[in-house]
Amino acid sequence: MNLQPATDLANLAVKVLEAGARRPFAPSAELLSGAELIRGLSFDNASEPQSQPIVDRYLDSHQVNDPGAAAMLAALRAASPLMSWNDIHDGYGGEPGMEHFCQNFSFAALAAPPRWAGGVAVASKTVGLTFTLQGPDVYYPDHAHKAVEIYYVIAGKALWKRGGEPWVERYPGDIILHTAGMRHAMQTRGEPLIAMAVWITDVESPIAVVRA
Ligand SMILES: [Fe+2]
Repeated sequence: MNLQPATDLANLAVKVLEAGARRPFAPSAELLSGAELIRGLSFDNASEPQSQPIVDRYLDSHQVNDPGAAAMLAALRAASPLMSWNDIHDGYGGEPGMEHFCQNFSFAALAAPPRWAGGVAVASKTVGLTFTLQGPDVYYPDHAHKAVEIYYVIAGKALWKRGGEPWVERYPGDIILHTAGMRHAMQTRGEPLIAMAVWITDVESPIAVVRA
């Protein structure tokens, strides 16, 4: 099987993180750390990927103007058939009020702890490289984890909340850092959000919904 699309997508992840690190006021140390961790990944085997109905519906529905984000969207579409798109019930199935979110959210990894690694993903205890799809008009409730997390918006605009900051509209090409334990939330409106999430520490830390 040709695994080159997974390598291409990981290489683009390195590129956007390195470019992001050169921007004014960027969290450069974290972004360069993420780039370095991803550069070490190599893809050599694939279990049978699984896919969910929402993936085809939302992955093909975007026009993106930002050139870096547009390139990553094209690479994600090319790599998607190698990737296992999971629903997030395993993480939040026991939580009340999460049904609409769980039915309209999907994620696929290129690197993840073994329990989340399917398809072409590398099982890793040092880095998480995940792509997320959040359907339109979906609230991803406040949650937190010990892992330091870098988000990169690939397609769709969404409202974003970090810690106690107000909601901010985020666009393709934007980079958002969540420090260890910082609560964060995302709200989509009329369009789906496609994003990359990179965990650069504590990749096995659990995710907790924060309700107060
Ligand atoms: Fe997160």
